[in-house]
Amino acid sequence: MTIYAIIACDRHGLIGQDHQLPWHCSEDLQHFKQLTLGQKVLLGRTTFESILERLGRPLPERHHFVLTHRIGKHFANVVYESALDLPRFAGEGNLYVIGGASVYAQCADFLEVIFLSVIKGNYHGNVYLPDLGSGWFLEKSEDRGSFLLLELRRKPKNLCPRLFLWEDLETIQI
Ligand SMILES: NC(=O)c1ccc[n+]([C@@H]2O[C@H](COP(=O)([O-])OP(=O)(O)OC[C@H]3O[C@@H](n4cnc5c(N)ncnc54)[C@H](OP(=O)(O)O)[C@@H]3O)[C@@H](O)[C@H]2O)c1
Repeated sequence: MTIYAIIACDRHGLIGQDHQLPWHCSEDLQHFKQLTLGQKVLLGRTTFESILERLGRPLPERHHFVLTHRIGKHFANVVYESALDLPRFAGEGNLYVIGGASVYAQCADFLEVIFLSVIKGNYHGNVYLPDLGSGWFLEKSEDRGSFLLLELRRKPKNLCPRLFLWEDLETIQI
């Protein structure tokens, strides 16, 4: 099994404004869709409700594990889970952790790859990326116009890969 996280933040690590994203970045939403279509996604109840609010339904063509202590409304492809059980959620395949902050924090030690979109511009909000630990390597970075796509991996693959520090976000020129 491989556990991925998909995160969008600004260069200060901001990820949310109340229950919503602080920005509308259609290029990043397209990137999110490409990665997750046909896959299993894990998310917290708050993030799930914000998707329902925005789309009026769960994400199409994705299987959702929604963490909550409540009983949620029935939807096809949505399972409500009252405890984190990553091996069962991922099974033999892949699992994409898609937020929010509390779920990223709980999964941090089990993530193998983080797809981090650093959205260009200045935003207001009140939810920040939690500590995901150090020891991440920057495998790839790509300028996608309205955002910078960073792929961070836990294990070194190159001879001398540069250690990625979260503080780097502050210094990225965007
Ligand atoms: N920028 C990004 O990439 C991104 C992605 C996703 C979300 N976000 C933002 O993040 C914010 C939401 O993050 P959040 O931390 O407030 O909320 P969240 O992680 O989406 O959801 C929190 C809820 O999930 C449930 N939960 C979490 N861990 C659980 C566990 N181990 N067992 C059972 N239930 C559990 C609880 O629901 P109950 O209260 O129902 O028990 C908890 O209140 C929003 O602003 C959203 O827009 C940003």
